[in-house]
Amino acid sequence: MTKEEYRNWISEYLDIGKEVLYLTQEDVRKIPLSPSEVLELTEKALIAYSAKKTDMPAKIGIHPLPETFFHAMPAYVPEAYAAGIKWGSCYPENKKRYGYSQANGLILFNDHLSGVPLSILDCIYVTEIRTAAVSYASAKVLADSNATTFGMIGCGVEGRQHVKNISDVLPKLEKIIIYDIWEEAADRLIQDFQPEIQAKIIKAKSFEEIAKSSEVLTSATVITEKPEPKIKDEWIGAGQTLLLCDCHSLYEDKTIKRADKYLVDSIEQHQLLQGYGYYPDGLPAIYAETGEVVGGTKKGRESGDELIVCNNVGMAVEDMFVVRSLFDRALETGIGRKLPL
Ligand SMILES: NC(=O)c1ccc[n+]([C@@H]2O[C@H](COP(=O)([O-])OP(=O)(O)OC[C@H]3O[C@@H](n4cnc5c(N)ncnc54)[C@H](O)[C@@H]3O)[C@@H](O)[C@H]2O)c1
Repeated sequence: MTKEEYRNWISEYLDIGKEVLYLTQEDVRKIPLSPSEVLELTEKALIAYSAKKTDMPAKIGIHPLPETFFHAMPAYVPEAYAAGIKWGSCYPENKKRYGYSQANGLILFNDHLSGVPLSILDCIYVTEIRTAAVSYASAKVLADSNATTFGMIGCGVEGRQHVKNISDVLPKLEKIIIYDIWEEAADRLIQDFQPEIQAKIIKAKSFEEIAKSSEVLTSATVITEKPEPKIKDEWIGAGQTLLLCDCHSLYEDKTIKRADKYLVDSIEQHQLLQGYGYYPDGLPAIYAETGEVVGGTKKGRESGDELIVCNNVGMAVEDMFVVRSLFDRALETGIGRKLPL
C-alpha cells in the first residue's frame, strides 16, 4: 500500500482533519494483536532505528519531583507511515500515594502526510507490550537459547508482561524465578499466570537467590537517578544475560563495566540520560545497539561464558510501530470513540 492509499483507506473509517479516534486503556487492550505480532513489530522498530531509517530524537524530559520524570517521545517511521508522540510519566510512588500505576500517559498518532491528528490513545498497554517485546527480542539474540532459568525482578505491570510470554523465545525454560520487594505482587503473578505457563514459577527469597539462579535476569523495578545497587557483583557470573528495563539501578558499577558485551537500544538516548545524571559513574563502552544485533549486522552471543548486559530504556519508534497496527485494527473492528477535532 502506498502512503496515499493508506490515507485513503483511513478515510473510509475516519473523517481525517475533522475527527480523531479516541482509545481508552480498556479499548486498547481489546484490540486484537497477538504477542508474536507485537514481537515482530518491535524487532522491526529496533532494526529500523539502528539502521538509521527512522526519525527519532532522543527523548527529552522534565523532572517535577525527585526520582520522577515525564518523557516526550516523538518518532516518524517511514516504512510504517507512522508519526506521533508519546507523553509518558513515571512516578514510582504513585501506587502508594494515589493508587495509580507508576507509568502513565497518552499517545498522539498523526497523519504524516498532512500532520493532522488521527488518534489519541492511552499509552499504558502499548508501553507494557512493547517493553516486554524488546526484552524478548534481546533474549533471542543475546541469551543462550538453551537457557532453563529466567529471573524477573519486579512483578508489576512490566514484570508480569515479561513473564507471560518469555517461553516463546526461550522454549527450554524450566523455571521462572521472580522477586519483588512487595511480596503480594509476586504472589499475584504466580496466581494469575502459573496455570497458563509450563515452566514452574518460583518466588525467590532474596536478590542473592534470584541473581545466582537465573541464566537470563531481567529487571523492571524503579529507575533511580543514582544506582542503588542491591545485587552484589559476586552474585553475577559468566554466561548470564542481564536485560535491564530500569537502567543500572540495581547493579554495582563494576558488574556492568566487566560485561563482555554491553548494549543499549539507542546510543544517543543513553548519552542524553547520562547528561541528566542517570549514570554518575559513566556509561561502559557500548558494544552495539540492540537493533544492530537483532538485525544481524553485529553478533549477539558468541560463547556460553560471555556476560552480556543489555540496557533498553525504551524508544518511541517501538511505540509507533505498535500504534500503527493497533490503530488500523481499531478502525477495522470499530473499537474506540470518534471525537470531533
Ligand atoms: N525500558 C522501558 O522501555 C520501560 C518501559 C516502561 C517502564 N519501564 C520501567 O520499568 C520499571 C517498572 O515499571 P512498571 O510499570 O512495571 O512499574 P510497577 O510499579 O507496575 O512495578 C514495579 C514493581 O517493582 C517492585 N519494586 C520496586 N523496587 C524494587 C526493588 N528494589 N526490588 C524488587 N522489586 C522492586 C514494586 O514493588 C512493583 O511491584 C520502571 O522503572 C519503569 O520506569 C521501562
